[in-house]
Amino acid sequence: MEFSIKSGSPEKQRTACLVIGINEKRKLTAAAKAVDEASKKRLSNVLSKGDIDGKIGQSLLLREVPGIPAQRLLLIGCGREKELDDKKYRKIIEASIKQINSTGAAEAVSFLPDLNVKDRDIEWKIRQAVQFINHAIYEFRDFKSEKRSSKKPVRKITFIVPSRLEQSQCKPALDQGIALGKGVKITRDLGNRPANACTPTYLAEQAVQLGKSFKSVKVKIIDEEEMQKLAMNSLLSVSQGSAQPAKLITFEYKGAKSDGKPVVIVGKGVTFDTGGISIKPSAAMDEMKFDMCGGASVFGVVAAVAEMGLAINLVGVVPATENMPSSTATKPGDVFTSMSGQTIEVLNTDAEGRLILCDALTYCARFNPAVVIDVATLTGACVIALGKHATGLLSNHDPLAEDLLHAGEIAGDRAWQLPLWAEYEKQLDSPFADVANIGGREAGTITAACFLSKFTRKYQWAHLDIAGTAWVSGKNKCATGRPVPLLVQYLMNKCEEQK
Ligand code: BES
Ligand code: MN
Ligand code: ZN
Repeated sequence: MEFSIKSGSPEKQRTACLVIGINEKRKLTAAAKAVDEASKKRLSNVLSKGDIDGKIGQSLLLREVPGIPAQRLLLIGCGREKELDDKKYRKIIEASIKQINSTGAAEAVSFLPDLNVKDRDIEWKIRQAVQFINHAIYEFRDFKSEKRSSKKPVRKITFIVPSRLEQSQCKPALDQGIALGKGVKITRDLGNRPANACTPTYLAEQAVQLGKSFKSVKVKIIDEEEMQKLAMNSLLSVSQGSAQPAKLITFEYKGAKSDGKPVVIVGKGVTFDTGGISIKPSAAMDEMKFDMCGGASVFGVVAAVAEMGLAINLVGVVPATENMPSSTATKPGDVFTSMSGQTIEVLNTDAEGRLILCDALTYCARFNPAVVIDVATLTGACVIALGKHATGLLSNHDPLAEDLLHAGEIAGDRAWQLPLWAEYEKQLDSPFADVANIGGREAGTITAACFLSKFTRKYQWAHLDIAGTAWVSGKNKCATGRPVPLLVQYLMNKCEEQK
């Protein structure tokens, strides 16, 4: 999809489809008023017949409206003007793209960013509109014979802002939205890819490709031999049951002029999680191909940030492996010495995410990080606690947690904080090793984070549990690209602060 911004008036737009808002109780928005005038009250007439009231989600397509050059006029219900918030704006944008697509128009001109959204400026409205539209039109057809869905989709959307001044002011926001969209698409494509075609080796190859497309990004792949030298025995304890070798992928993006400390993002890259010897039930096990979505988010964030050219230093780390049962697999009760020197009793081989993350988190210290944020489809318990609406957030540094929560609010990609209290740590006691890899039924998301916290003492750290948010389950299962919008917003905010 191509996006652009122009300034201009609605009644003059020469387009296949002009999109304007109608508020609840048939109230005309500013753009609608202008069209009404130009068309000698055609709009008022139609509205008075009651075809559209203006409730959110409603729409009405008119053709051959007199007095305007647009071929089609698409009216979108926008609800009550004073109540328009982030969520409603999203619904409006999503309704508009769905309707535009059903008209068959190849391009459209939208006045919807002209709506007043509570506490949001025009840049936000443009950026979010691009994000929501990209989200809504996404399809994954790499493994279908027919590479396009049958209908001819809209190819170009032009947003109209009130003045030339706003047009130039909004251009960076538009570009940011587009860059974010590219990152999110990378994350979703990797997530949706079946596990037989998305192995650790494939991820490593894709990382190298990403490094080739951006001068500012350096990529390094650590193989199992080198992992052994680094004493990453916990990570290797997971991959030892698989015929696919593990890879540790690192991205280094230099955007800041100074040698400032980088933000380090670590993502769980389990390309398939069978549970290992503690094998999972077979129902919906296919969805465990999404267990690398944390790793895929690292790809997406690095790509978006590099595309934006953000003035920040960023490191991405992805431990990638399969979790398989086999005669070489870890057995419950096995003990391993992690890279940190702490010993781990593996009581359940299905709690593998923390086993690969702990060594990756230890490895992170060498980047002298400003902060470390890990992203992982870590616990089913998080889905029980928060459902699919919020990402779980736990941190050893409250200001960092605040920043992430705030970024999530702005980006429409929210997280919710859970406590990381010392009281929970007892649940991880082991009679044979320094720590056990599971903490019992209670507070599973928290004890998982407690486990990780034993490897992050040296720096400010936050953990995002995306088990509920990384993909949508069921018949229309699909990776969502979350929490890439949250993380990119966090990094953008950090850049603004530094200015
Ligand atoms: N990848 C899973 C977590 C998961 C499960 C995410 C379902 C999304 C949906 C993780 O590796 C796992 O298996 N966790 C176990 C931990 C348990 C053994 C302590 C879980 O949540 O059941
Ligand atoms: Mn597991
Ligand atoms: Zn897992």
